[in-house]
Amino acid sequence: MPGPRILIVDDEPIVIKSAERVLKAEGYDVEGAAGGREAILKLEKGGYDLVFTDLKMPEVDGLTLIKWIRKSSQVIGIVIITGYPSQDTIKDALELGIIDYIPKPFTPSVLLDVTARAVEWTKGKKPADEKEGGEFPPAMAAELDRVIQLYKHTPGSLIPVLQRAQEIVGYLPPVVQRRIAKGLNIPVAEVHGVVSFYSIFTMKPRGDHNIRVCLGTACYVKGIEGIVSKIHEALNINIGDTTENRKFSLEGVRCLGACGLAPVMVIDQETFGAMTPKKALEIIGQYDKSGVEAAAAGNPAADLAEKEA
Ligand code: FES
Repeated sequence: MPGPRILIVDDEPIVIKSAERVLKAEGYDVEGAAGGREAILKLEKGGYDLVFTDLKMPEVDGLTLIKWIRKSSQVIGIVIITGYPSQDTIKDALELGIIDYIPKPFTPSVLLDVTARAVEWTKGKKPADEKEGGEFPPAMAAELDRVIQLYKHTPGSLIPVLQRAQEIVGYLPPVVQRRIAKGLNIPVAEVHGVVSFYSIFTMKPRGDHNIRVCLGTACYVKGIEGIVSKIHEALNINIGDTTENRKFSLEGVRCLGACGLAPVMVIDQETFGAMTPKKALEIIGQYDKSGVEAAAAGNPAADLAEKEA
């Protein structure tokens, strides 16, 4: 049986080419369209299961394309890829039932991860949050629903529900936001507004271990930049990224309230003070040495980091 057919819509040819290269290597049936108009012409012929679309495009933009798809009789899963996520357009897209959202630039692992989930969606051909258990493992969906039920009648419960949801799922993709909105009986735009306002929430999948580096003034003065650059060299990620092997994520945060220990790094729930680039790498290695080595593999800068450390 042929796999799902995916249409990538973007006015930047490089985005289409990169996505095609990554997805075709994994056996996906992928085609590109250079904008909303070309996409509609292709979609009119039918046969597509998923559309990954940019939002900001000349003539026919992403939202117009999504509305056209929703009005057509075709059941197509939609994922947004955009470098300019304005809160309003993302909110509109969420309300139109997108499966997921990827900010540009994206890494191959994020693209493959989102594609795998979107493909799961195509198997049910129903919005994930309308299905029993959705696209989550049943135990995860049940736990999420239990938390929603627990807080359902408590005013101001959105933030604690989102915190618990992030602990359960690992991040807050659109499908989780819609499930929470439905469960708490509030607009999905309100949920999205809170998720995007607070830096503690993320819509991107995170690695097994979350490294937070403090970018506050005291830590900056004491050299946090050197630590960030060493982590970048060793793990091949920038702030906001997750390693290809999904072992580590790197996040930059404002003052962690431990300025006396500057420069400060936090891994998961543990705080480490008076960091140096060398110490930071040693500590990260204690969490998952083979994960560090695998993340570094193929990154020429990593050898240099190793020698200098
Ligand atoms: S500035 Fe880093 S802990 Fe305060």
